Amino acid sequence: MSEKNLQEIKVIREPPLAWVILSRPEKLNAISLRMLDELSSVLEELSTNKDIRVVLLKGNPEGRSFSAGVDISTFINLKPLDALYVSTRLQSVVNMLETFPKPVIAVIDGYALGGGFELALGCDFRIASNRAELGLPEIKLGLIPGGGGTQRLPRIVGEAKAKELIMFGERLKSEDALRIGLVNWITQPEKLDEEARKIAQRLAEAPPIALRTIKDVIRLTRHGPIEEGLAFEATSFASLFTTKDSVEGISAFLSKRKPNFTGE
Ligand code: COA
Repeated sequence: MSEKNLQEIKVIREPPLAWVILSRPEKLNAISLRMLDELSSVLEELSTNKDIRVVLLKGNPEGRSFSAGVDISTFINLKPLDALYVSTRLQSVVNMLETFPKPVIAVIDGYALGGGFELALGCDFRIASNRAELGLPEIKLGLIPGGGGTQRLPRIVGEAKAKELIMFGERLKSEDALRIGLVNWITQPEKLDEEARKIAQRLAEAPPIALRTIKDVIRLTRHGPIEEGLAFEATSFASLFTTKDSVEGISAFLSKRKPNFTGE
C-alpha cells in the first residue's frame, strides 16, 4: 500500500524519527480493519527504512484520543468467526509493534481504551498527557480484551492490578497509570509531542543494533528458566562485539568524546 493511499493512518517523517498517527477523528480514532491493514503496511516499510531509528505512535488530536478502541459499530451481529479474525488481526499488529526492530513510543493524549490501549501496550514506552485516560472497558460490552490485553497487562502491572482493570473496566487517569508503571512519563498536553520527541531523539542517538538486541533478549527469554535467559544474554552480548558501533562506543568513551553510532 503506498503512502498516498492511506486513509486512516498518517505518517510524518522527521528522520531519524517517524510519527505514525491513528486517524479517524470523527470516531475518536477507533480502530477498523482498514486501519490495521494500513498500520501493518506502514510498520513493515518503517522497519527496514535505514533513515528511521525510532517510531512514535499517536492519535490524531482532532479525535481527542490516542484511540477509543476497536470500532464498536462493527460488533453488531458479528459472527464468532469474524470476531476471531478481528481479534487475531489486532493481535498480529500489536505483535508487530512489540517485535519491531526499533524502539516504538506510544504518545497518549485523551482516551486510550480497548484495542487502542492494547496497541499502546505493544510499544516499548508510553508517555501520556496528564489528561489521558487509559483502560480496557470491554467488560461493559459483555466482552473481554481481544488484542493481547489479558496477556500483556498482567506482565506490566501484575495480575491483581490487571484483573482489577479488566474486570471493573474503569478508566485509569494518567497519574495512576504512572504510579503503577503502566506509563513511563506524564506531562502537560501542550508539551506532550515535544517531550516525546526529546525521548525519541535520545533513543535515535543510541546504537540501533544494541537497542534491537535488548528488545529481543527481554522478549524472547521472559518465560524461560533464568539459565536459558542468561545464556542468550551472554551470546547476544558477545555478538555485539562484531558491530562497528561497539568499537565506536568503546573508543569514544576512552577518548572522552561523544560517540556517533551508525547502526553497523
Ligand atoms: N467505536 C466506535 N465509535 C466510537 C468508539 C468506538 N470504540 N468510541 C467512540 N466512538 C464514537 C461515538 O459513537 C461517537 O460517535 P457519534 O458522534 O457518531 O455519536 C463519537 O465517537 C464521539 O464519542 P462520544 O461517546 O460522543 O464521546 P464522549 O466524549 O462522550 O465519550 C468515550 C468518549 C471514549 C468515553 C466513549 O466514546 C466510549 O466509551 N467509547 C467506547 C470505548 C470502548 O468501549 N472501547 C472498547 C472497544 S472494544
